[in-house]
Amino acid sequence: MQPIGIFDSGYGGLTVMKEIVKKLPQYDYMYLGDNARAPYGNRSFETVYRYTLQCVEWFFEQGCPLVILACNTASAKALRTIQQNDLARIAPENRVLGVIRPTTEIIGNFTRSRNIGILATNGTVQSGSYLIEIEKFFPDITVHQEACPMWVPIVENNEHQQPGADYFVKKHVDHILKAGAGIDTLLLACTHYPLLRDKIRQFLPEGITLVSQGEIVANSLADYLNRHSELENRCSKSGERMFYTTDSTEDFDNHASIFFGEPVRSNHMNLDNSIQLADHIY
Ligand code: DGL
Repeated sequence: MQPIGIFDSGYGGLTVMKEIVKKLPQYDYMYLGDNARAPYGNRSFETVYRYTLQCVEWFFEQGCPLVILACNTASAKALRTIQQNDLARIAPENRVLGVIRPTTEIIGNFTRSRNIGILATNGTVQSGSYLIEIEKFFPDITVHQEACPMWVPIVENNEHQQPGADYFVKKHVDHILKAGAGIDTLLLACTHYPLLRDKIRQFLPEGITLVSQGEIVANSLADYLNRHSELENRCSKSGERMFYTTDSTEDFDNHASIFFGEPVRSNHMNLDNSIQLADHIY
């Protein structure tokens, strides 16, 4: 079994996995949510890198040739260091991909006003990753960012459809639209946020496009596998889905179906493995 690994700090990556499985049902998939240490959004570069590397090494030990960091915070704060520092040492034949690059490659296709807003965790906003990547592909686009630190806890605690969530959703939507006059596209740059989509819509004026990443990442993965047949050949294809969490499997199973759209039976992943860290975090 050589499944494709899909990683998130918690449940959010399941919104991406749902779209990947829809697009590419033939592959085997192994999901890991680091629920015991979520959320990652307010953690330092060093911590997000350490946690993410530990989980990536675990995926490799399970036989995954390819791991998708289906978490913007991990993609922003750990992916480059893992690709540039660790991969050659721990598994040179394997690959780790994130969600920021595929999104920024096509975000320019959604906007006519060339003004977009990024809604994300503190960590993703502070990393500046979206600003840097969008500038590369679409230098004509003006990007506004808004950190929404309460949105992940609201979603992780299954409060996203409750009236209490309104205050925090409205606050950040109003703020970004006020700061970025002319925004016609808002990117949900956190894999938890699609669950808040309806709530966000309530506070948006007509004519603003709300972009989620699931389908974008799924299309980009399909394209990547087409272009990398050596890696594609190593991915097993018996349509299996396996779910792991670093915390309680009972909690995971109770919550995960909300994100994945169908019942989930998870296993426990033990975090007590040791890893060798980079001296410098890029
Ligand atoms: N879902 C993750 C993201 O896309 C991170 C959430 C968190 O752990 O703060 O950024």
